[in-house]
Amino acid sequence: MNATLTPRQPEGSAHAARRAGPRRPEAAAPAARPIGSSGAADEHLVSLLVPNSIEGEQYRALRHQIEQRHKDDGLTVVAISSPTPADGKTTTAINLAGALAQDPQARVLLVDGDLRVPSVSEQLGLGEVAGPGLVEAILDPGRSLDDVVRDLPLFNLSVLPAGRSPSAPYEVLKSPRLGDLFQEARRRFDYILVDTPPIVPVPDCRVISKWVDGFMVVVAAHKTPRRLLQEALNVTEPGKLMGLVFNRDERLLTRAYGYYGYGQQHGRARAAERGRGGAPRSQPCP
Ligand SMILES: Nc1ncnc2c1ncn2[C@@H]1O[C@H](COP(=O)(O)OP(=O)(O)OP(=O)(O)O)[C@@H](O)[C@H]1O
Ligand SMILES: [Mg+2]
Repeated sequence: MNATLTPRQPEGSAHAARRAGPRRPEAAAPAARPIGSSGAADEHLVSLLVPNSIEGEQYRALRHQIEQRHKDDGLTVVAISSPTPADGKTTTAINLAGALAQDPQARVLLVDGDLRVPSVSEQLGLGEVAGPGLVEAILDPGRSLDDVVRDLPLFNLSVLPAGRSPSAPYEVLKSPRLGDLFQEARRRFDYILVDTPPIVPVPDCRVISKWVDGFMVVVAAHKTPRRLLQEALNVTEPGKLMGLVFNRDERLLTRAYGYYGYGQQHGRARAAERGRGGAPRSQPCP
């Protein structure tokens, strides 16, 4: 399953700055709105902040494909990764989790599996209250999921933060205890989305792969080098590759707006239908 996302979103977040190093100050970034109980949420979380936007519709189209696989094959645990840093993994994971959680019946867990540069809590504005998370639950078998999962009732969403960054993330992820936690999570949730580190520079996804049903690989339009995408696909378990998510493809956004304009004449619901058919696109895996 491939899909194309075209969220048109302003540049920059504290997290990206941390990964990328110093950069020019941004003058006119719009203020982010709060989601968590402390800090401010990343403005790019359209599925939570502006679910009925054009961008929100595109995540909803992707949600539909996951729901189908859930129904057809029992797909439950989906990892979101990408070849290189800053392709949009975390943004995609949160938006996709938010889109799935729009179904009030769905029980959705978002896991921050990037123990190296965790950013789910930061992007959600959970701040310091994030407290213990996946790392603590792996290292201490006395902790259950209940001890580390945070609920965001307003969004019908549960979040498992990464917790304290360990000195040897790969070793922590290799613990069989991670499998136990995923088993417990599978019993309690319909959908579990796992944000991960990039595939090429670090080996963590190869360990995480053991516990997930599928991988979505995010590709940043005009950024992710083709060679590194190929390398990432080579090391991804072939049976688990669900498809590519093209992030930041402005051409398709323009097309989506075209559909939206048409829809204003013929009714918003019809416009959404047409937008879903035009912007997010299924293509064969490379
Ligand atoms: N479609 C988009 N439009 C505009 N900005 C985006 C988009 N997707 C992501 N971003 C921004 O790009 C930066 C990197 O995104 P994100 O943190 O989701 O990437 P990542 O792949 O998880 O990075 P890392 O490898 O560091 O974990 C963030 O500032 C995010 O807000
Ligand atoms: Mg990330």
